[in-house]
Amino acid sequence: MKVNNVHTRTLVPAPEARAVDIIDQTALPHEYRVLRLTTLEDAAHAIRSMQVRGAPLIGVTAAYGLALALQQNPDDATLASAVATLATTRPTAVNLHWALAHMQARLLPLDPGERADAAWQEAGAIAEEDAAQCRRIGEHGKALLRPLAEKRGHLNIMTHCNAGWLATVDFGTALAPVYAAFDSGIDVHVWVSETRPRNQGLLTAWELMQHGVPHTLFADNAAGWLLERKGANAIDAVIVGADRIAANGDVANKVGTYLKALAAHEAVVPFLVAAPRSTIDFDCASGMEIPIEERSGDELRVVRGLTGEVDSSGQPGSPGSLRQLPPDEQVANPAFDITPARFVTAIITERGSAPATAEGLRKLYPEDRHA
Ligand code: MRU
Repeated sequence: MKVNNVHTRTLVPAPEARAVDIIDQTALPHEYRVLRLTTLEDAAHAIRSMQVRGAPLIGVTAAYGLALALQQNPDDATLASAVATLATTRPTAVNLHWALAHMQARLLPLDPGERADAAWQEAGAIAEEDAAQCRRIGEHGKALLRPLAEKRGHLNIMTHCNAGWLATVDFGTALAPVYAAFDSGIDVHVWVSETRPRNQGLLTAWELMQHGVPHTLFADNAAGWLLERKGANAIDAVIVGADRIAANGDVANKVGTYLKALAAHEAVVPFLVAAPRSTIDFDCASGMEIPIEERSGDELRVVRGLTGEVDSSGQPGSPGSLRQLPPDEQVANPAFDITPARFVTAIITERGSAPATAEGLRKLYPEDRHA
């Protein structure tokens, strides 16, 4: 997608240097910073610290992390320990484990001498497939949104967290239908949930701004009221991404998603989930089995932003942080929650959309072994 009108991806391999350049998402939206990853530890740190984030991008970064490790040493022990290091970075997004299993299946049978090149190619193939699948999610999602737009002449979409191109290699998942609809001339307005405590909604607002898509940011707690509105400002649909979809259609996504699903259900507003195949875990029978990441309490105790007022020349303050709670304040910080399948209107994938049921997912992926 575009940054200052220049086509940009979240992760760009630098083959000549056997390195990977990423956009540091911990600095956005206040600062646009590119970091170069050259080692396995760089890649693992980028995932843990959320310099890269979003389920599909976590998977692709892990694949390149393996490639970076095998540049150093392609033997079995290195491969196994690199997989172990990456597999423990973040627990909820299944794309991480999907990518590692995919890479291992490709690399293990190979002679160690062939692994470094093969790993680089395979990671590149996973990245290209992710971008292609997200583009198709955009098209299938647009097909679902068009009738809603035709009914009212414009479209109000609510979203939570960031499931745009910043969370993938390109195009995004939940935002891909929004971009596709906007680019096809549909009058779209996006209602963006701030998504405390890490404020991924600010990333969504930033990328929508870059693409020129009208949007409004709101406090997470305002979602119920916004969904109850009728008339011109009524919300036509909620679209979110996913970190893991169980075989029965239950969905793990950023904490706060479940509350929006409940409010959308009550307000009879379609609740759509967009995700590629790599986010569907057919070995996981239901949401109960999905591990939920608990992150540091400091994500609540400390707020990041620009310190100080905008100065006389209009220059905003400098990036910094503000402590709002004492270090010993008891804090709970689950990073994700589970939306039961019964609150999901449809799942949009690269193969089309389907009801959030075992049957629906089986129809989309008949070749996959089902739990
Ligand atoms: O903690 P994050 O920012 O990695 O959480 C991201 C989300 O929950 C996204 O909605 C999900 O990964 C889908 S990204 C296309």
